[in-house]
Amino acid sequence: MTRFDPAGPLRGELRPPPDKSVTHRAALVGAMADGPTRVTGYLDSEDTRATLRAVAAVGAEVREGDPDDHGGFFVEIEGVGLRGARSAAIDVGNAGTLLRIMPGWLAGQAEGEWTFDGDDSIRRRPVDRIADPLRLMGAKVECRDGRLPPLRVRGSRLQGIDYEMPVASAQVKSCLLLAGLLAEGETGIREPISTRDHTERMLAAMGASLRREGDALIISPAERLEAGDVPVPGDFSSAAFFIAGALLVPGSEIALREVGINRNRIGLLSVLSRMGVEMGGVHEEGRAMTVDEIREPGPEPIATLHVRDASLHAAEVTAADVPAAIDELPLLALLACFAEGETVVGGAEELRAKEADRISGAVEGLSGLGADIEARPDGFAVRGTGGLRGGTIDARGDHRLAMVGAIAGLASEEGVEVDGFDAVAVSYPRFERDLRALLA
Ligand code: S3P
Repeated sequence: MTRFDPAGPLRGELRPPPDKSVTHRAALVGAMADGPTRVTGYLDSEDTRATLRAVAAVGAEVREGDPDDHGGFFVEIEGVGLRGARSAAIDVGNAGTLLRIMPGWLAGQAEGEWTFDGDDSIRRRPVDRIADPLRLMGAKVECRDGRLPPLRVRGSRLQGIDYEMPVASAQVKSCLLLAGLLAEGETGIREPISTRDHTERMLAAMGASLRREGDALIISPAERLEAGDVPVPGDFSSAAFFIAGALLVPGSEIALREVGINRNRIGLLSVLSRMGVEMGGVHEEGRAMTVDEIREPGPEPIATLHVRDASLHAAEVTAADVPAAIDELPLLALLACFAEGETVVGGAEELRAKEADRISGAVEGLSGLGADIEARPDGFAVRGTGGLRGGTIDARGDHRLAMVGAIAGLASEEGVEVDGFDAVAVSYPRFERDLRALLA
């Protein structure tokens, strides 16, 4: 149990840890490239360490350099080339992104066999969403009960397909993009709502040929990928916990530096603006959130976000908002407890297939702290009461629920005990230290 007492305000500045999604991809495409890929700010977390071990297991050489000051380290990955992966048994731990993206690459190898397995939570996460389209491409993929890990992949010849994804998932899209590099002919992918495009940006920077045609993303087969430098932006999804803390705790004023602001990731900001958080440029007076120092040091844009406390009112969140805010929706449930009116989140049934069922995890967890919140099949409804009593919340082994519990504690009346707080190590091992530094 870790306890978070009412505290604040949050003040000062922080560079959040490197982005988890971009880090996983940097390791994977680095392993697929010819020559050394240098990653600056590789996220040091359990999930992304699993990906480094996975690429080493298939033959990439991983040379780890010095740590930086914000939870990352320098790493050089000597790739095996697009077609040079050797057979391995891969333990993904808790990393769903590794589980779902890497098989796309391996499915297209001329020969070899790979198994993917992980912890109890991983064994409940559906993989038919990648197995089905990979099989349409000619891949040899087997999974337990037709839809769950362990997953077994054998190398085979792939053909390009034109695929309409039934769920909006960046992991599925990325898996098919990697398979498409090794297929015969072009692969077209259509997503119902656009999702994070980190893989597309990185592959394009490494010389892959991708284009948009109407609503389809089309990738051509490639002979090789060019290795290069990958700077990893700060993780917006980690920064989001401090954004929420600063908005909720009176007197707060923080700056979050070098945060990735890829438009497919910052959907929380659009929702917050509908909840009454005034946003603007740094020279605009009186705004609760301002953005400055926008730069593009690599394929991903970054910026500094300034946040002050603000009062919130309810908003409606629908399917169109979901992919760009997917990992922030449990945090939004917490914010909605403090907003005036009823916030309804719909079109978010995907939350049930995350590290934990994040609908029941957030609803039961926040109810236990005194929130007026109810689950829906595809989301939740929260009637804001302007505050939260406090109590105990179960992280259910889920890093994001653990961090929601911590922020809830700061903003609560009586404090919050987070059961299973250790889960934060999956994406943000230094979370508690960084949070306490902003409170000091
Ligand atoms: C991720 C995509 C999202 C997100 C996950 C990371 C990624 O999952 O929830 O935390 O890195 O591609 P889906 O693609 O399953 O929506």
